[in-house]
Amino acid sequence: MDDPLLAPPMPALDWVSEATACVTRHEHGLLRLEAVAPDILRLRFAPSGRFATPRPWSPVLELPPAGLSVHEEDGRLWMETERLSARLDLSSGAVSFATPDGRPFAEDLCAPGWREVALEETGLQHLPDTELPPGEARIGVGVRKRMAPDEGYFGFGQRDGRLDRRHRRLTHWTVDRAAPGHGLGEDNLYQAQPTFMAVRPGLTWGLLLNSTWFSGFDVGREYEDVLTLFTLGGELDYYILAGPTPAAVVEQLTRLTGRPLLPPLWALGFHQSRWSYGTDRDVRAIAEGFRERAIPLDAIHLDIDYMDGYRVFTWDRERFPEPAATVAALQALGLRTVTIVDPGVKHDLGTGYGVAESGVAGDYFLRRPDGERFSGWVWPDESLFPDFCSERTRHWWGDLHGSLIEIGVDGVWCDMNEPSIVDRPYREPGVTEFPIPLAVRQGDEGEALHAETHNLYGHLMARATWEGLERLRPARRHWVLTRSAFVGTQRWAASWMGDNSARWEDLETSLPQLASLGLCGAPHVGVDIGGFYGHSFGELYGRWIELGAFHPFMRAHAHRDSRPQEPWSFGPEIESVARQAIELRYRLYTLAHRAHRRGEPWWRPLLFDFPDQADLYAIEDQIMIGPQLMIAPIRAPGLKRRLVELPPGCWYDFRSGARIGVGPAALVMDAPLGAMPVLVCGGSVITLGNVRQSTAEPLGELMLEIYPDDEAEGFWTLIEDDGESFEYQDGALAETDCRIAPLSRGAVFALAARRGDYQPAPRTLILRLHLPEAPAGLRLDETPVEDWRWDAELQAAEVRINDDGQTHRLVPV
Ligand code: GLC
Repeated sequence: MDDPLLAPPMPALDWVSEATACVTRHEHGLLRLEAVAPDILRLRFAPSGRFATPRPWSPVLELPPAGLSVHEEDGRLWMETERLSARLDLSSGAVSFATPDGRPFAEDLCAPGWREVALEETGLQHLPDTELPPGEARIGVGVRKRMAPDEGYFGFGQRDGRLDRRHRRLTHWTVDRAAPGHGLGEDNLYQAQPTFMAVRPGLTWGLLLNSTWFSGFDVGREYEDVLTLFTLGGELDYYILAGPTPAAVVEQLTRLTGRPLLPPLWALGFHQSRWSYGTDRDVRAIAEGFRERAIPLDAIHLDIDYMDGYRVFTWDRERFPEPAATVAALQALGLRTVTIVDPGVKHDLGTGYGVAESGVAGDYFLRRPDGERFSGWVWPDESLFPDFCSERTRHWWGDLHGSLIEIGVDGVWCDMNEPSIVDRPYREPGVTEFPIPLAVRQGDEGEALHAETHNLYGHLMARATWEGLERLRPARRHWVLTRSAFVGTQRWAASWMGDNSARWEDLETSLPQLASLGLCGAPHVGVDIGGFYGHSFGELYGRWIELGAFHPFMRAHAHRDSRPQEPWSFGPEIESVARQAIELRYRLYTLAHRAHRRGEPWWRPLLFDFPDQADLYAIEDQIMIGPQLMIAPIRAPGLKRRLVELPPGCWYDFRSGARIGVGPAALVMDAPLGAMPVLVCGGSVITLGNVRQSTAEPLGELMLEIYPDDEAEGFWTLIEDDGESFEYQDGALAETDCRIAPLSRGAVFALAARRGDYQPAPRTLILRLHLPEAPAGLRLDETPVEDWRWDAELQAAEVRINDDGQTHRLVPV
């Protein structure tokens, strides 16, 4: 949308204020500013003078409104909450925001502008109906804001490319990138998250563009230091998140769009997949392969070939004569089954295919504007597509999962839900994309055009699936994986990044890609380990699995034409690299509760924990795993060591236990295959269980690796629950606070009494206190400890205690 740099001034004719909002009236349109919470303001501008009706499927939740105080002074309206203020210039209509101490940010350079837009201007002109439907769909609205020169711009959803998005124009339109080399150089991918955070030392703020239409951000590409927000749909609607830190922005964003689900514990284990383990025999052989080789595994994914002719919610009885028996055999080995589900329902009427028939009978499928049912081609050839904007349809779809639940399936993998549709059977030449026309009407009342709802197709499919599982199996935590997503999908599903390739470039791009999603409120993310397209090879697979062991969602997956890609497919050296990597994952305690409570991503860029260090913003090949661990992956062949930047604080090598330096500093670390650098930040407690073959096995003894900082006190809360039920919501949790005094104050380690109603199994705690040199002795709860040892190699004093849930204090003397 090539509008001139500045939209004309838009003087306010008058204004009114209510308890929580203020509305100004202009010659063309209304502008409304509302306090959604003390730290979240919403701004809406409707050139038509009418604000859009709230949509039942809106990804944004209603929060209890907060008070807004408004007054007029010097030709400006001042609007304030305790945490955030906004100032509207009555002569121009420009708005800027400020912190309570008056530091401005997100300042408009001009009033919002709008005009009719042609499809060509969006880049969507390849869509079948060459015109946007008339009406609000064609009205593009936007505003330009000043970018502070020292701000970095992060988030922006699933993309390829750099972490900092300055100098890019980013649009939101979900699309399947099914081609080897996906994503590199492309803008739109499978997911769309119109949100970002602007980070500079001392202040981070965030923005959520509340539009499901085609929309975008020009982040200083068109004009240096000018941020443009734009959307189709006839209304500008965005939320300003006050921050002031990246963690606060993600908390505000997920308060608004929903907290990430708490996955069942098994889903945090390792998942093995392939397109496809196509018969009962194949699946059992893979499961046994893991157990025989003692490589931990929790789930096997069944790709499309388990279905009968790709008919969703059916089984091919030749390949899987008794699906329940297959699933039970996996269960007996401690494994869960995840089945793929595609939205395209085979157009197969009159043959007894109940899904198509009940879908037609209930009128759940999309219809073209002329009333004909819309069909396109996917795996089962001609297919019909559910309208997930309709609540009735979502209910029907959710209930269909009963057939999978009966068989014992534990997780559902929603694929091809951008949605991905082509114009003829895949086997014919000349296959091209065949998207749903923008003028198709969706929703129970036909209230919205596909132009408005396109980006929500996968989001609402994931929701329908999750809600179905919730009705069908209410007592157990559900697990859904989705390829397409929007902001808010984190409430129902984990996601993976789609069809990558077995290339170093794809490993590399996955680092900032996953980190960006974490900043958008989606912590449960991963990529196909080893690469989907192409043939992976030992070194690449080995590097990818040692890295993937830290993905929030860890799955290896490969294309049907790829050579075998199981951990043992590359010879004994790589098998042992894979085993050790996965074993480490199984030992590390989970960060999922923290993500669930505050939206906190576990895979995150350094700027998340160190927002005041501007020189760390550009680093995208070191990732923080929670606040305590930092990994430094190898992303190119042949490398055996690499440069590691140490952020402020004191750092330890996780493998050797040795103290390696105090940041800010940089050093070269060894990184042989299988042992990329993993560092621990001073002031941390890393909790490790025993190696297990699946999360179903007991954790055993619990090791607390305690790493004091030089100067700063460290805090950590270990959060545990049964890993399976929703009882944690009623207090069935065990929370243990730990505190570590810095070395300068004696490195005293304090364990608080356990809180909550969940009782972990009886166990021993091994406290391992890492110190620069051996202490003369240790005192536990004021009594000298007889039975302790100094491990000179690990540089740690070790003592074993019974985990009685009581307060304990360990003092080196
Ligand atoms: C899509 C998915 C991929 C899956 C394949 C077959 O390409 O992204 O993961 O294996 O379809 O179902």
